[in-house]
Amino acid sequence: MMASLEDLIPTVNKLQDVMYASGIETMNLPILAVVGSQSSGKSSILETLVGRDFLPRGNGIVTRRPLILQLINTSPESRSPSITPPLSKSNSSRSDDSDEFVDPKEDFTSQLKNRPNYRNNTIRSEEWGVFLHKPDEKFYDFQEIRKEIELETVRIAGKNKGISKIPISLKIYSPYVLNLTLVDLPGITKVPIGEQPHDIEKQINNLILDYVATPNCLILAVSPANIDIANSESLKLAKEVDPHGARTIGVLTKLDLMDSGTNAIDILMGKVYPLKLGFIGVVNRSQQDIQENVTVKEALDNEDAFFKRHPMYRRIASRCGTRYLAKLLNKTLMNHIRDKLPDIKVRLNSLINQMEKRLLSFGDPSMFDGYENKSGLVLQLINTFATNFIASIDGTSSNIN
Ligand code: GDP
Ligand code: NA
Ligand code: MG
Repeated sequence: MMASLEDLIPTVNKLQDVMYASGIETMNLPILAVVGSQSSGKSSILETLVGRDFLPRGNGIVTRRPLILQLINTSPESRSPSITPPLSKSNSSRSDDSDEFVDPKEDFTSQLKNRPNYRNNTIRSEEWGVFLHKPDEKFYDFQEIRKEIELETVRIAGKNKGISKIPISLKIYSPYVLNLTLVDLPGITKVPIGEQPHDIEKQINNLILDYVATPNCLILAVSPANIDIANSESLKLAKEVDPHGARTIGVLTKLDLMDSGTNAIDILMGKVYPLKLGFIGVVNRSQQDIQENVTVKEALDNEDAFFKRHPMYRRIASRCGTRYLAKLLNKTLMNHIRDKLPDIKVRLNSLINQMEKRLLSFGDPSMFDGYENKSGLVLQLINTFATNFIASIDGTSSNIN
């Protein structure tokens, strides 16, 4: 069966899981990597995209293993702009919902705008997370997701401030997210703190480069607007691997913290630093907002208001903010995967060939009673999956406009 454009991200997600579970790391599937210096606002962006508080917080290096985050939209209506029905009764009757009417034809992410106003500890059965290392457990409590990430970080990267290249893989199912696959990476850091190894900067740089050096990786380069863009660590790093700025998306955080009288309009208009995919300005929750339990929904509304009211950003407000960023990332990742399909097919075919050879070298798999030969079984599974995958994406690239 042929996949549609909207199916591409979930399909690649499945492939990613199969590859990861079988220890094949060389596929380099399309992904969006979030890169930035410490405290530039990476986690804040991810939490806003997900709509929930679920990432570990704290000073220093909190993200010490890559976190592969697969956001899976569970609402079938939202998949296509043309078929999104008007907001359902059950949605609009929620007491904490915004009164704002959104024409779904004009904004296919209306679900995002109508995201419920969840407090941190709210538990809802319509949203849950699943870790690849605990596939049988559904996490409905996002505080538990945070704890599990912390536990898993310590389990592999240790209690101290060491880092590990082995990723944690988390899927989030929700009607309020757009399909996206992102990887959160440790923040770029300059000085070792506490018991950190003296070469921590190099270790983190190498880890980030592992992801962003492959042409299949889109780079979300986060820079705080209150620091001169010429000093942006994320843009420096992105430039090393993407010198023409072809697969780097700039995100400017902390626009609310710029010195009064200054603004970033020239950067946002693409006049300062050339990136083909441009710069998006965002305003995340401040530390005080977090202490005061400002919800993601409230933060998104505050952010919208900030851009709409601002004398300089007002005229580009529709292309600013995290809601716009979510749409842009979803679209960009879909197009990116579509462009990479021919290459993925070639690599999968060669992988299938290698596997067939290995399977043959095991002899006839049926002679292993009850599939005692585990590696043989795994190879067979991947083979079947890869063949189906290729069949499902066949024609996708030529069939979309
Ligand atoms: P990370 O280290 O890159 O993951 O950065 P965090 O997302 O943890 O943010 C670091 C700190 O900056 C937190 O206290 C955030 O509340 C704050 N912060 C992030 N983005 C913004 C922003 O756009 N405006 C303001 N005022 N604070 C922000
Ligand atoms: Na940066
Ligand atoms: Mg962080």
